[in-house]
Amino acid sequence: MVYISDNDSKIISSTENKFKKITTLRLQEMKDANIKISCLTGYDALIGKILDESGIDLILIGDSVANVVQGRETTIPVTIEEIIYHTKAVLRGTKRPLIVSDMPFMSYQVSADSAFENAGRIMKESGCEALKLEGASLSVLNAVERLNEAGIPCMGHLGLTPQSINKFGSYRARGKDSDEAKKILEDAKNLENAGAFAVVLEKIPYKLAEEVTNSLKIPTIGIGAGPHCDGQILVYSDMLGLTIDFRPRFVRQYANLNEIIKNAFSQYCDDVKNGKFPSVEESY
Ligand code: KIV
Repeated sequence: MVYISDNDSKIISSTENKFKKITTLRLQEMKDANIKISCLTGYDALIGKILDESGIDLILIGDSVANVVQGRETTIPVTIEEIIYHTKAVLRGTKRPLIVSDMPFMSYQVSADSAFENAGRIMKESGCEALKLEGASLSVLNAVERLNEAGIPCMGHLGLTPQSINKFGSYRARGKDSDEAKKILEDAKNLENAGAFAVVLEKIPYKLAEEVTNSLKIPTIGIGAGPHCDGQILVYSDMLGLTIDFRPRFVRQYANLNEIIKNAFSQYCDDVKNGKFPSVEESY
């Protein structure tokens, strides 16, 4: 399997390198060499293993676990313990991708000291290789600087920041007016200066994402932010068509697993009820 096309071999010269563990440094090399970065979310070992085998560069154990796994409306209730639990599970199934975990709401906003303690705990107990924080307020920038100094790589997240849903009241696109756009660009530069190794840009106009991408040395990872970002991320269950009640424009559905799984479950139910499963061949 070829993870990076041979045309993009400025930094990748041997087959062996194509299977090399992805690090934050490697993501930077990919941006510098114009190689796009592929990212998806993951929350368990089963999907982690499939993602690893698919050649994905980065797996985010997102606090979207709230919506995907826990059936919650928002990401706000997710706890540090839950992120640690899901990250450990993903890590059991993976070798190559960079493993990034979300810092839950209020685990990094209170003070740089508590962000430091919580980040250290998530990293030590889960084994993740980097953390993602939303926004670029002074407290977040201080936290990023402090964590970075201590050797904890941080990924920023700008544009639509789901942990702030109660402040904004909707999941509308951000950065459509010039003030908001200016602020996103400024925030991205501040995150880079604070030491972030990459920034997620969620649901912003593609021209703004292009401007941010061209203004930063570090990679941008888009979700609903157009084709000019250095990489792309989606929530895996959305792109597999497992989620049926969430179809924003930016989600390309690569499979219709909801239908496939439902049909398989129905077939199984029928077979059990009709005595067609198990057969003697499937018995001991
Ligand atoms: O939690 C998450 O899944 C995320 C991605 C949507 C970027 O933050």
